[in-house]
Amino acid sequence: MTTVGIDAMEIWTGKLKLDLPNTFAPEKGEDPEKYTKGLGLNASSFPDSYEDIVTMGANAAKKLMDRKGLEPDDIGRIDVATESSFDNSKPISTYIAGCLEQVYEGDFHHANKGERKFACIAGTQSIDDAYNWIRAGRNRGRAALVIATDTALYARGDAGEATQGAGAVAMLIDEDPDLVELSMEQGYGSADETDFLKPNQQFPSVDGKRSVKVYLARMREALEDFESVAGKIHPDDFAYGPFHTPFPGMVRKAALLAYRHIIRDTEVEEELAEEIGRQPRQEAFDDDEAFTEALREYMDALKGTEQYQDWYGRTIEPTLGISRDVGNWYTGSVHIARLSALMHAAEQGEDLAGQRLLVGSYGSGAQAEIHAETVCDNWLEEVEALDVQEQIDARYDLSWAEYEEVHDRHNHEKDKELEEFTAPENEFAFDGWGRMGERKYRYVE
Ligand code: HMG
Repeated sequence: MTTVGIDAMEIWTGKLKLDLPNTFAPEKGEDPEKYTKGLGLNASSFPDSYEDIVTMGANAAKKLMDRKGLEPDDIGRIDVATESSFDNSKPISTYIAGCLEQVYEGDFHHANKGERKFACIAGTQSIDDAYNWIRAGRNRGRAALVIATDTALYARGDAGEATQGAGAVAMLIDEDPDLVELSMEQGYGSADETDFLKPNQQFPSVDGKRSVKVYLARMREALEDFESVAGKIHPDDFAYGPFHTPFPGMVRKAALLAYRHIIRDTEVEEELAEEIGRQPRQEAFDDDEAFTEALREYMDALKGTEQYQDWYGRTIEPTLGISRDVGNWYTGSVHIARLSALMHAAEQGEDLAGQRLLVGSYGSGAQAEIHAETVCDNWLEEVEALDVQEQIDARYDLSWAEYEEVHDRHNHEKDKELEEFTAPENEFAFDGWGRMGERKYRYVE
């Protein structure tokens, strides 16, 4: 059977940056370390005046198509994952295809286009759809373009304001991929939850503390479901574990829970028993409260062990690099976590081909999905072709007053005009409104 997976990726970050410790914290009267250490974030990306989910998605897609030498005829499917859409009928993929048709000779008239919504997990679901389409043999030799694009803005003053972000990830899903092969096995944890939602409104209604609990509960269910089809996981099975990263502190919590789960009944638990005891088992407790307390004590102790610190430093910490500097990209977030890990491996000179990643996606509302990926032989060439750090470094650093204006500019309820901070060059830019309220775009040389 031929392999199917991600052949190539490209990103596009919003071109503005909000510095959290130096610009945001003083205005909020908070200790800068609440952001850098507590949440694990240095900065958020924001879109300039002429950027939105269409420009960022189209720019990432064009970079990918140019680098891989693709023409519209090579693409049989364009799926956009977003939770920042501005249209309840016309999918963002049509806008993006329209942009791309301005610069390529051919067109995408025979490509199936759609839009996927399930909070942040929709990017992974779109990859799934593409995988299934290829596996079903309906792709006629063509590849699928999956674009995860979001402006993750919260209402001013919301606790989530520190975790904002904006950016797009374009991914080419194809047979015989160059980057990672996707596993057939998947695990799901899914339930009707009310923790983060946008009932026909631009900015989310969020119960932040609850959302953290729901993330952990659904992720745990997904891990158990994955093990039920793929077999028990051992901590050494995976080189990296890229997880959905709303902020790195969230993944720090999830990683500890995952580690406790995967070392249970292994030699690692036995080795650690002398230092911190064995894990509490529910059946040994008469009441839930005592069990929960014992579990909490075990987790606190586990966090401090050399074994855990070592595994976390090797497997999880390298997935958080990009996120620390750009914030939450919602649908793109888990995909930049994968990229962080691969970029780290490239910098370290690791021979990653054939090694595996454990990928944990998550969307509020809520659903988690776990699958495995195997790194392909050409991964290094793919990763070395990217300019992720250059894009991050080139962002314009906003003052507080400028940030307030940018937030208003992108607030759909405010009709705010704002001079751009950066000059568009060789990229798609917003070009005003059409007669039916549609957004228009042009390619700026
Ligand atoms: P908050 O109340 O401002 O922050 O909101 P906090 O007081 O809980 O502090 C955060 C952390 O910083 C804590 O660490 C503090 O101890 C620490 P923890 O105890 O949790 O490990 N801290 C400090 N550390 C060092 N030095 C200091 C200091 N001060 C505090 N001086 C909250 C936090 C996450 C609730 C907020 O940011 C929020 O509402 N975020 C939005 C929701 C969110 O991101 N939820 C995550 C799970 S849901 C998800 O991932 C889905 C999502 O991506 C959407 C989708 O799927 O579409 C959001």
